[in-house]
Amino acid sequence: MIIAENEKPIGMFDSGVGGLTVAREVMRNIPNERIVYFGDTARVPYGGKSKDTILRYSRQIVRFLQQQDVKAIVVACNTASAFALEEIRTEIDIPMIGVVKPGAKIACEVTKNNRIGVIGTKGTISSGLYTEFIRDINPCAQVIGKACPLFVPLVEENMLKDPVTVEMATRYLSGLKEQDIDTLILGCTHYPLLRSVIREVVGETVTLVNPAYETARSLKCLLEERGLANTKALGDDSNPYQFYVSDAADSFREFANTILPVDIRNATKINNIEEYQETGGTV
Ligand code: DGL
Repeated sequence: MIIAENEKPIGMFDSGVGGLTVAREVMRNIPNERIVYFGDTARVPYGGKSKDTILRYSRQIVRFLQQQDVKAIVVACNTASAFALEEIRTEIDIPMIGVVKPGAKIACEVTKNNRIGVIGTKGTISSGLYTEFIRDINPCAQVIGKACPLFVPLVEENMLKDPVTVEMATRYLSGLKEQDIDTLILGCTHYPLLRSVIREVVGETVTLVNPAYETARSLKCLLEERGLANTKALGDDSNPYQFYVSDAADSFREFANTILPVDIRNATKINNIEEYQETGGTV
């Protein structure tokens, strides 16, 4: 059966479960769109790995998604958006967006004192990409980055409001608070799930920016501009969201069901993701 271009799914990937915070916003804000999601659960975390490694992993996943006949790709991982998006975008012929630019853009819109904090993985912060995008839009902005590597395992252990998490948030964020930021970008997929603890530590006066939400808005605009938006509701489609992982499918599904607005019945394990090569197929 030939599927119209605009009825094809959106491809989306992350190092694991974190990108589900982006999938959640796409489901809520662009409800007509089908999604094929890949979580690289065998190779998570990406946050402390080198650019070369992230680029290689991301290329493999993009080839996999292309084989699922997706119409656009969302890099739902901040680290992969920082290290791999710009290069891979030039290698494929479908639109591709990440989470960094939308997050940077909205932070520039909401800051009043031009002092913006960014928290993320070591890779995202060391890439300097949030700073670059923010300074392109607002050359007067001061950007203060802070890597918070322990936040990811705390979220994955479901310690969202645990005293240990509060303690770590206090250690990571006190310095940013002292720098008088009025806007803080939650520049890692997992951090929106720590929103209440982060809010408690930084106080009510700091605006928290969730790039996941902004990415869904950017995706919606991109699809409309390119004539790729699905105009038909998903009503009759019994399986509009498909999930693939490279390991631990059951725990992925359990985590997904705690945060997504729909129940997912199945996540399929792909055993050979590293075999998806630049030629566009498995070798
Ligand atoms: N998804 C990653 C990110 O947003 C966080 C988890 C990881 O380090 O792989 O940067």
